[in-house]
Amino acid sequence: MLGEFVYHNPTKLYFGKKALEGLKEELPRYGKNVLLVYGGGSIKRNGIYDKVVAILESCGKTVTEDPGVMPNPTTEKLAEGIRLARAANVDLILAVGGGSVCDYAKAVSVSVHYDGDPWQKYFADFEDVDNAVVPVGCVLTMVGTGSEMNGGSVITNRAEKRKIGHVFGAEVFPKFSILNPEFTFTLPRYQMVSGIYDIMSHILEQYFSGEDDNTSDYIMEGLLRSLIHSAEIACKNPLDYEARSNIMWIATWALNTLIAKGKTTDWEVHMLGQAVGAHTDATHGMTLAAVSMAYYRHILPYGIPKFKRYAVNVWGVDTVGKSELRIAEEGLAAMEKWMRETGLVLKLGELGVTEAMLDGITESTLIMQGGYKVLTPVEIRAILKESL
Ligand code: NZQ
Ligand code: ZN
Repeated sequence: MLGEFVYHNPTKLYFGKKALEGLKEELPRYGKNVLLVYGGGSIKRNGIYDKVVAILESCGKTVTEDPGVMPNPTTEKLAEGIRLARAANVDLILAVGGGSVCDYAKAVSVSVHYDGDPWQKYFADFEDVDNAVVPVGCVLTMVGTGSEMNGGSVITNRAEKRKIGHVFGAEVFPKFSILNPEFTFTLPRYQMVSGIYDIMSHILEQYFSGEDDNTSDYIMEGLLRSLIHSAEIACKNPLDYEARSNIMWIATWALNTLIAKGKTTDWEVHMLGQAVGAHTDATHGMTLAAVSMAYYRHILPYGIPKFKRYAVNVWGVDTVGKSELRIAEEGLAAMEKWMRETGLVLKLGELGVTEAMLDGITESTLIMQGGYKVLTPVEIRAILKESL
């Protein structure tokens, strides 16, 4: 481990079939006024809304509802949430939904007591929070982002065609998160597999960086193997509790800051995916899947030993009589085969991207410094073209 770091994760987790009981324990710690944030209505159809509202009522809370948080939440919606939260003088923001709802809740939480434009401060200028933050709690219904145990918040500015994530500090992490794997059973298959690839991408973008002997890399190989195994089971039987619960737990550990410790990290696939999202509003995990193979084949020559290690330790590629490069390439081929079988989107065209959009998407893509190859805009465009 070469880095210097502080490790502190303040989010308390309640996990399992009875996890929602934890909400009864947590609510009394906060004041009376709760902003109940949710998405487009799935929680009303699957009964989670009724269960949460019953607990809020039994705890004597005054609830203001903030429904309609869309996938890839926007600056306009954020402004609405801030208005509601201020008017209700909220003491707690309770997010019930997926990553979009959790991310949005965090964006509202840091903006309620800030008078300026939150997009400019947090998402354009990446400034730290220097005002009071309203506490956030989360009841997770979609697995993938890790938002339930991190400070990430991704907001889309449709006018500027930019989708940007701010990674906030510990004061913005959810105070608690309720993780009941059964709450994810009603997810459409497209969302389930999109989330599975989001998890894989989070791990890979921390794995493909650095060359030291880092314990985090071994943890990641274990997480990836468990993810691949459980995803295969979940795809055959989406109601397999064990597989869905493993996937939920892997998602949390993939992006709760632990496995990044002591490492540089890459994150270029996320920058490409977010730029695609800004131009198409496509489902997050699918934007990552569509650019990944072209990206990894492009950077493979700059990180052959790690790609070989990935091929052997994660995909079980046989090494006998093969060059390091061939083993590395076979690892990516195994990954691509698995992605196809899982039902992931492998081409940007399927997400509505056309060649005419590539210059704009290239312009919206942030360039990261921590991967095996720092890309140029020309390389970004070439990777996008290859992914079409
Ligand atoms: O809006 P509703 O009706 O609830 O439907 C949602 C939505 O349409 C549906 N859904 C969620 N739970 C369900 C369900 N449908 C049936 N049953 C359930 N139990 O799923 C759809 C997608 O939800 P969303 O919250 O958008 O998905 P996800 O969790 O993938 O979140 C994506 C957002 O998170 C950001 C992404 O960029 C994107 O904006 N990310 C946040 C990160 C973070 N905080 O660290 C990191 C990630 O890399 C990611 O960038
Ligand atoms: Zn992601």
